[in-house]
Amino acid sequence: MQMLDGKLVSQAVKDDLKEKVATRAAAGKKLPHLAAILVGNNGASETYVASKVKSCAETGFGSTLIRLDSDVPEEELLMKIKELNDDFNIDGILVQLPLPKHISEQKVIETIAASKDVDGFHPESVGRMVQGLPAFFPATPYGILLLLEHYKVETKGKHAVVIGRSNIVGRPISILLNRNDYPGNCTVTVCHSHTPNLKEICLQGDIIVAALGRPEFLKADMVKEGAVVIDVGITRVADPSKKSGFAIKGDVDFNQVAPKCSFITPVPGGVGPMTIAALMMNTFKSCLAKDPD
Ligand code: GUN
Repeated sequence: MQMLDGKLVSQAVKDDLKEKVATRAAAGKKLPHLAAILVGNNGASETYVASKVKSCAETGFGSTLIRLDSDVPEEELLMKIKELNDDFNIDGILVQLPLPKHISEQKVIETIAASKDVDGFHPESVGRMVQGLPAFFPATPYGILLLLEHYKVETKGKHAVVIGRSNIVGRPISILLNRNDYPGNCTVTVCHSHTPNLKEICLQGDIIVAALGRPEFLKADMVKEGAVVIDVGITRVADPSKKSGFAIKGDVDFNQVAPKCSFITPVPGGVGPMTIAALMMNTFKSCLAKDPD
């Protein structure tokens, strides 16, 4: 069993970007700049956004963090996004999800200029991805591709089983694993809450992507010997023994499942850090599109 080490690969991606940014700085080129909007003070969102901003600083990217109160009117948020759309210095805009109930996530996503949609959630980005055109891929699926690529995991002709069909992970990773490219060329089955024979389908998976958000859902008796298991889960579970009061649990029962796998991602330290590396890649590409090397 080989661990797919997201911490290590994410650092390698960021180191590579850091070098490229330094070269651009020396040549007087535009440097990548990410704007992150955080609405309210959801604990997990605070952590994710802080990691994104920290990674920008470490890599030589500029970043702007905009904090808005949880009761901010939708119109004010949309105005802020439009301001960032018009700001040449900003290459990528991300609005951390989930948003408070009174704000339409769809409206927010569609207000971000497609050219700055480094989260890859805009319908134009999704449409381009589906058609195999150059596009911003959503960060988590893109991070999974980078991880598979780094470890040279074979995907051609494999049966990939994706559990979950969210717009952020399940649906886009099912499309990307199915594309005619590497990583890709899988036969993909997408399972969800209405799939009756989930265990039988999982047992056919050469690659399983667990992205349903149910801690330790995938058990050893659902996984065949030699499978590649990608765990996208990051649920906070109360744990009084931890200083923070919670532990992070994946969607895979790691201790049971790992011995059966050829490759597996740990949680934490697997897909999570790769999501940030992928976001940085998208922001860099956006900057490059404006001011090529
Ligand atoms: N919430 C959970 N994942 C993501 C993500 O990739 N991007 C944003 N903006 N919000 C998220």
